[in-house]
Amino acid sequence: MATKELRGVGITGLGMYVPERVMTNDDLAKLVDTNDEWIVTRTGIRERRIAREDQATSDLALPASRQALEIARITPDQIDLIIVATCTGDMAAFPATASLLQEQLGVRRGAAAFDVAAVCSGFVYALDVGAQYVATGRYDKVLVVGAETMSKVLDWSDRATCILFGDGAGAVVLQPAPVGEGILGAVLGSDGSGAALLNIPAGGSRAPLTPVLIEQKRNVVFMKGREVFRFAVEIMGEAAVQALESVGMTPGDVDLFIPHQANTRIIDAAAKRLDLPPEKVFVNVDRYGNTSAASVPMALFEAWQSGRIQPGDVVVTVGFGAGLSWGANVIRWGNVPREGDLRWTG
Ligand code: UT7
Repeated sequence: MATKELRGVGITGLGMYVPERVMTNDDLAKLVDTNDEWIVTRTGIRERRIAREDQATSDLALPASRQALEIARITPDQIDLIIVATCTGDMAAFPATASLLQEQLGVRRGAAAFDVAAVCSGFVYALDVGAQYVATGRYDKVLVVGAETMSKVLDWSDRATCILFGDGAGAVVLQPAPVGEGILGAVLGSDGSGAALLNIPAGGSRAPLTPVLIEQKRNVVFMKGREVFRFAVEIMGEAAVQALESVGMTPGDVDLFIPHQANTRIIDAAAKRLDLPPEKVFVNVDRYGNTSAASVPMALFEAWQSGRIQPGDVVVTVGFGAGLSWGANVIRWGNVPREGDLRWTG
């Protein structure tokens, strides 16, 4: 097969959705022995969104995806591939949430759809996977979604974990772009020796669900917080630097850093290591908590919508999480017109 020139890959549309229900730290203090002051000083989180009982992950992904398609000015039948990054799919094992989203969104039969399982690093992984398909010319329009209903896999009596997470979804559309614009490069990594630090022990083939395992709460999030914290602080800076180096840049070239929104202390420590001032670091963990694979696309959406990202800016996203896993993307922002934006050229 003859080698073809790689194409540039741009983000041409973005969307975001969070459930209506807000759960504050004071609300949590009624469930577990905690308080607003502890949660704010240790994590920076003030509130998070919680899905309704009848809302599954694809129900959050759907409005986020519709918005991203609308902004990209494309219709669902034009989508070639859907990738959903999630660890809280609608069904326990299969089908892929991406296939369920395909049906809800009305994407044509024959489009490809699959999920990426890299937990909190999921969107960063999925963005890189989607970009490969566009770069090689295999697909022209790829929808990449990060969506989670973490509230459904938490132990609501464990104050060490239930205060951290929230629900939400973010989506982007990828399309060909001029070379040198859009997604410039990425680094992805994993260290399976850290799998025991953060997981849901039961419910998979290692330990299929039984009433006893449920009684022992082995079907919900287990985490060694302090160890994950140490890993996170180190890997955030390292992944960002490696991704930047892969495209011949340094942290000094970054206009906006979009870290996985897990904890402001982790974000601050990483920003310090990268020598980035607060105005170059996007934070919304205070309003949504840790939404796992949804955190980076939600932050990307809000950063773009609020004008913190301008055409030509160098944006670096970094994710980390269970696996252990991590990843970073380097993006040179194109011209995605905001609603009512005069730069809109259609
Ligand atoms: O996407 C990746 C997901 N994971 C993460 O990003 C988590 C990374 N880790 C963290 O963010 C932090 O480790 C936590 C926020 C989870 C915990 O903060 P910490 O400063 O590491 O606290 P700690 O676990 O060392 O606990 C300190 C104390 C303990 O009490 P003692 O043993 O000192 O008496 C805990 O029992 O705080 C206690 N504690 C709480 N107190 C009030 C733990 N959770 C709570 C709580 N409210 N919710």
